[in-house]
Amino acid sequence: MITLDTSEENLKLAGRALAEGKLVAIPTETVYGLGADAFNAAAVARVFEAKARPSFDPLIVHIARIEDLEKIASSIPPKAKLLADHLWPGPLTMILPKRSEVPDIVTSGLPTAAVRFPQHPVARKIIEFSGTAIAAPSANPFGYISPTRAEHVARLLGEKIDYLVDGGACEVGVESTVIDMTHDLPKILRPGGMPVERIIEIIGPVEFSVKKSAVVSSPGQLDSHYAPSTQLFLFEYGTLNLGNAHRLIEGMDPGSAAAIVFNDARAKEAARAGFSTVFTLSSNGNLRDAAANLFALLHELDSRNFSVLVAEKCPDEGLGRAINDRLYRASVK
Ligand code: TXA
Ligand code: MG
Repeated sequence: MITLDTSEENLKLAGRALAEGKLVAIPTETVYGLGADAFNAAAVARVFEAKARPSFDPLIVHIARIEDLEKIASSIPPKAKLLADHLWPGPLTMILPKRSEVPDIVTSGLPTAAVRFPQHPVARKIIEFSGTAIAAPSANPFGYISPTRAEHVARLLGEKIDYLVDGGACEVGVESTVIDMTHDLPKILRPGGMPVERIIEIIGPVEFSVKKSAVVSSPGQLDSHYAPSTQLFLFEYGTLNLGNAHRLIEGMDPGSAAAIVFNDARAKEAARAGFSTVFTLSSNGNLRDAAANLFALLHELDSRNFSVLVAEKCPDEGLGRAINDRLYRASVK
């Protein structure tokens, strides 16, 4: 793997490499993506192989010009048009009926395709220079924590890819919100970097189909996902206290456990509950900062030798929904 900085020359090189069928990890505002030419089935097959991703889990196609939407989607419902006008470029992925030119391997044979127009200037330039659309899942082994820094990608997938463009830390830090626009009542399949409240302001009511059940309509809804190797126990917001923690960590050494909480106030409570190692996602309780820090913190804690991780959810609003969804999946084994 060759690591590139974000000079114009290197972004052109990365774009050309994609056009030639190579695998290039690229920074986006949400997480790093592992990109391949969406119209090159053989290149896309290598993405599945590099991630050890099951072939039933379809990829998001990334575009850098709104005109390119028509190359992927066979029709664009009015509400999808509204969301594209207001929220793209940004951390929002829309499921739309697909054109037959999009290879089946990209969509796992589904009649729909996921499309996103990312906001990150580096991602946009690379896609533009490639002259095509880029299929890109998060650049992590399937089921593991998504990468928000170049070093996460290098460590996890370095041997398996051709180039890594180092654009520094991802600003949003959780994956895009995925919304299925093929129904009259659009369906949120994955809460993410675009707050659902913003979406509702623009198109009105949506359905929530973020199901914690065995029925999987979007494979990213698999219960166990985004998971560290260290076992993680999860508490509802405001419930990590002495009594509850005691019951859980009975028989364990709390000194070998680490607690992850939202803000300084919750950290005090966790310390009172007996945890000597406590990490806050955002000292002053800012959900954006918390989302941006989440995966980097999980990567770091997973590489230290804690016996268990204990996390408490954030308030369930705005980006808190995405954070809580990821914490839930990180806690399922
Ligand atoms: O922020 C993001 O979305 C990042 C960056 C790189 O853009 N990408 C990302 O991709 O998170 P991935 O592959 O890790 O997650 C894509 C999610 C999966 O849950 C997948 O099942 C769902 O989108 N998906 C893709 N195509 C779909 C389709 N046609 N119908 C339903 N769900 C789909
Ligand atoms: Mg992923």
